[in-house]
Amino acid sequence: MPRAVLTLLATLGALIALSEVAAAQDAAAGERVFAQCKACHQVGPNARNAVGPVLNGLFGRKTGMVEGFQYSGANKGADITWTEETFAEYIRNPREKIPGTKMVFAGVKDEQKIKDLIAYLHKFDEVPVALTQ
Ligand code: HEC
Repeated sequence: MPRAVLTLLATLGALIALSEVAAAQDAAAGERVFAQCKACHQVGPNARNAVGPVLNGLFGRKTGMVEGFQYSGANKGADITWTEETFAEYIRNPREKIPGTKMVFAGVKDEQKIKDLIAYLHKFDEVPVALTQ
């Protein structure tokens, strides 16, 4: 293989490794942001509904879908699919995005903290909700 190609491959490998480190740091920072949510929410394989619903597998599901959690009519009827975008809007100001929500939380205003929080919650994308009840 020509030397230039080898150099290119090595550089690409290093870049991928770097971006993985960056992603891990985001999730770790997000875990610290999640400390604010922990009073009410759980995530992970042993998560249970508490004051708020389990947040496993959040991205891609609709509002109000965790079984066994008593949502407000406002949240259940909001008909929002949780994506990174809708979640970011919501967590900035929950009562503006879903008027009448019973989530009593002022919001996270800092854009970087919201990104870190998203990276952290993505760690639980594949953790089923049904098995956690
Ligand atoms: C004081 C308790 C409390 C805190 C703190 C809190 N939440 Fe909530 N959260 C709730 C409750 C209660 C609901 C259900 C809202 C409803 O039914 O109106 C909820 C709903 C949600 C939902 C919608 C879930 C769904 O299935 O539709 C998301 C997403 C969410 N919270 C994320 C967070 C995040 C992230 C934080 C921290 C940055 C946080 N919450 C902090 C109580 C809380």
